[in-house]
Amino acid sequence: MTVLRTPINIMVWISGAFIIAILCLGVNGSVDVQWLPCQFVDEKVHVNEEGHIETQFIYRKAVIQFGNVGDSPLYPTITFLVTASKVDMRRYVEGGDDTLNCEIRRYSTVDKGHVKRWPTMGAQEYDVWFSCTLRHTKGEFIITTFLRHTPSDPAKGKVDYLQWLTVNDKDLLLTSAVMVVLTRTPSVEVGFLKEPTLDCQFAVDHKNANVTVDWKLQRSHGKRSRLFSYTSRTGTSEGTGVSIKDIGGGNASFKLLPTRKNSEGTYICSILVPPLHGSHNIPLHLREQPRVFLNVGSTLSLTVGEGHKVTCDAEGYYPMDVNIEWLREPVSDSPSPVFLKNVWHSSHRFHHNGTYSLSAFLQLQPGLEDSGYKYTCEVSHTSLLVPIRKSFILSVTEPDLTMWYIEIIGLNGVILGIVFKLLCHFIPSRKASYRRF
Ligand SMILES: *[C@@H]1O[C@H](CO)[C@@H](O)[C@H](O)[C@H]1NC(C)=O
Repeated sequence: MTVLRTPINIMVWISGAFIIAILCLGVNGSVDVQWLPCQFVDEKVHVNEEGHIETQFIYRKAVIQFGNVGDSPLYPTITFLVTASKVDMRRYVEGGDDTLNCEIRRYSTVDKGHVKRWPTMGAQEYDVWFSCTLRHTKGEFIITTFLRHTPSDPAKGKVDYLQWLTVNDKDLLLTSAVMVVLTRTPSVEVGFLKEPTLDCQFAVDHKNANVTVDWKLQRSHGKRSRLFSYTSRTGTSEGTGVSIKDIGGGNASFKLLPTRKNSEGTYICSILVPPLHGSHNIPLHLREQPRVFLNVGSTLSLTVGEGHKVTCDAEGYYPMDVNIEWLREPVSDSPSPVFLKNVWHSSHRFHHNGTYSLSAFLQLQPGLEDSGYKYTCEVSHTSLLVPIRKSFILSVTEPDLTMWYIEIIGLNGVILGIVFKLLCHFIPSRKASYRRF
């Protein structure tokens, strides 16, 4: 027996070390986060005199701590101890906790007065649920994780939200992550005739989960339309845009048809695994950057008092709001731009591809003192991080006087000639008359 026991022990040790090694490396090269600071949005629910349910939100400090049953809290605050399961939210987290915003909320699994038990071993009808949402502060992703807690002292009778489990300031709640729903495209900006993919992924802690995937579009003016739906239990689907064979692997991403004006709106990805319902709203905005042109080159030479109309065209932008300004600044000194007033605008021109154009005209009638200034057309638009600037330098000269001099000299010559001729004419005649008398 001792001979047999040793190899088994060794095997247990080796496999144990192997598992620990995997856990240390993290699944899929995840960041090994031990804990995250979170805001716990607690609820005080009561039924008022008219029989309506009133909810008061209370914002409390908490942490999510990743570990095992029996771990003690790292910080003396509300601790949601998330134990290892097939679902690991850390797997999707990129970047340190300084770029994450974590929020935990109560989650009710009561549907029309009924409670559905989560379909894994050990789950209870009286389980208490929380949803934890991690938002990347720069908009890279949003991850919602559902946490299941089995209370030792189950509340019975009423629906969960009318008798939420009391959480005290230093409580440690042992939880298991059972489902994640995430998007890596929390908001999308795209041009016309593009085919963006709206990302929506999920993971569940058990195999062959009964999943319903649903995509809807909410346009800014009113109606909500269904784009796609699929139910794994029946295998039926409606609509297009999602690859059904990818749903099994947790990918419910939606590919849009070439974008048009009516593609704008909020796309809602819903993943339903009863009794949990995770969803993400993905706003999609159409954006086209303006192209900016001036009808003059990099320098414009004018003579004093000569009128000139300079045009600044902003073309092919979307949406319609655009701002075109003309300003001028000295070239040499530290720039102190002045916005010009002698500017007027065309009306917006609409193009068949859905974009717009607008022009701003600057009327110049410069004096010598305007020479050497830089004139800039500045176009700001929601599609641009910084405005587009196009400039020219104005050079103003005295009117060219050469011709004038030539004319004056020429005219004087002619006059002199005539005077001379007349004199020549009169002098001899005088002589003659003199002779006559
Ligand atoms: C999900 O599927 C889409 C196509 O429908 C694909 O573009 C995307 O890369 C997939 N995402 C993952 C994480 O596999």
